[in-house]
Amino acid sequence: MKLVALFNAGLEKLVKNELKSNGINSMENSRGMIFFDGDLDLIYKLNLNSRLIEKILICVGEFKAETYDELFDNIYSLNWYDFIKKDDGVIINKISSKRSKLFSEKTIQSIVQKAIYKKLMDKYSLNYIQENSKINIRIYSFKDNFMILLDTTGIPLSKRGYRKLISQAPLKETLAASLLFFSHWKRKYPLYDPFCGSGTIPIEAASYAFNIPPGINRNFDFSLLKNFDVDLFNIIKKDLKGKINTSYEINIFGSDKEQHMIETSFKNSEYYEINDKINFYKCSMEEIRNKGFDFGYVISNPPYGERYRDSNYAIKIYEQMRFFHKEFKNWNYCFITSRDDFEKHFNLKATFKKGISNGKMNNIIYYFK
Ligand SMILES: C[S@@+](CC[C@H](N)C(=O)[O-])C[C@H]1O[C@@H](n2cnc3c(N)ncnc32)[C@H](O)[C@@H]1O
Repeated sequence: MKLVALFNAGLEKLVKNELKSNGINSMENSRGMIFFDGDLDLIYKLNLNSRLIEKILICVGEFKAETYDELFDNIYSLNWYDFIKKDDGVIINKISSKRSKLFSEKTIQSIVQKAIYKKLMDKYSLNYIQENSKINIRIYSFKDNFMILLDTTGIPLSKRGYRKLISQAPLKETLAASLLFFSHWKRKYPLYDPFCGSGTIPIEAASYAFNIPPGINRNFDFSLLKNFDVDLFNIIKKDLKGKINTSYEINIFGSDKEQHMIETSFKNSEYYEINDKINFYKCSMEEIRNKGFDFGYVISNPPYGERYRDSNYAIKIYEQMRFFHKEFKNWNYCFITSRDDFEKHFNLKATFKKGISNGKMNNIIYYFK
């Protein structure tokens, strides 16, 4: 099967590495998407174990269509009954049409849904589709070339499930994980997050250190598909669970000036049963001290001044952070913020910078080595 991984644009290189570590060598990428071949076992494994990907999709078909009749016929010709059970339906929940003759999203949506339902009704000898469950479908068209994708994930993989409580400006879990890979952090090194909020970076770091599959406690839409192989899924899940090892010694610290954020972080970390492995404590950034390590990583998501307080507050914080240069001398730092003036206020030139698109907001990752 042709599969597609969706993720935040900017993470292409990291996602390629993650796919390579899952045995995938041949892949093509475009912005925020990587295409590769794989079977059900890969779909299950990536959904359970990817730290960076948002969704894994199956490419059901690709074709050229310049008229609505061609669109209907091509959609009808696809093997929908390989994926969709007799009493289930679909939702066309994302349409992107660029430089194509067919551009009305509403009409494309209606034609595609009609063609799929006609095919299912003909195949299953039905008069109507009951829609017990609805499978998510995405349609991308570029220069009249259509790609029809079926969502195996459902709720995006960034929603691991541990963040029952959040901070005012929570960082997406996949982006928190990306900081670990951009900075090449490894579990043998101390990690310090002085603005931990709801604990996302320390929890991502600890789950990575202990090989805890991020999606181990959640559900996926592939369980709704006709080709769902529950035995294969259970084997893969058991295999991944067998690799969890929480006996490694780690030194991960998360602090925040708000006591309720510390309680939130602790509560969230209970989800993977690692609440006794991470040191969360209340502390103002100005007062944090290195706990005696010669080397380590400060990895954090300091206030941006957009969702949390204002721009002046963010600038003041970045200037105060300059004391890290002494307190965490020779350490590596990795920060994510939406501001492009971070280096100026922190008074240090980044070794590496990367823009990451995150919905309407653009983030920048700064790595100082
Ligand atoms: C952008 S949020 C971090 C969000 C976090 N990464 C998460 O996923 O929940 C910034 C955090 O910095 C904390 N903060 C703001 N000023 C601080 C200071 N001077 N010292 C310590 N923490 C501070 C806020 O309480 C807030 O939780």
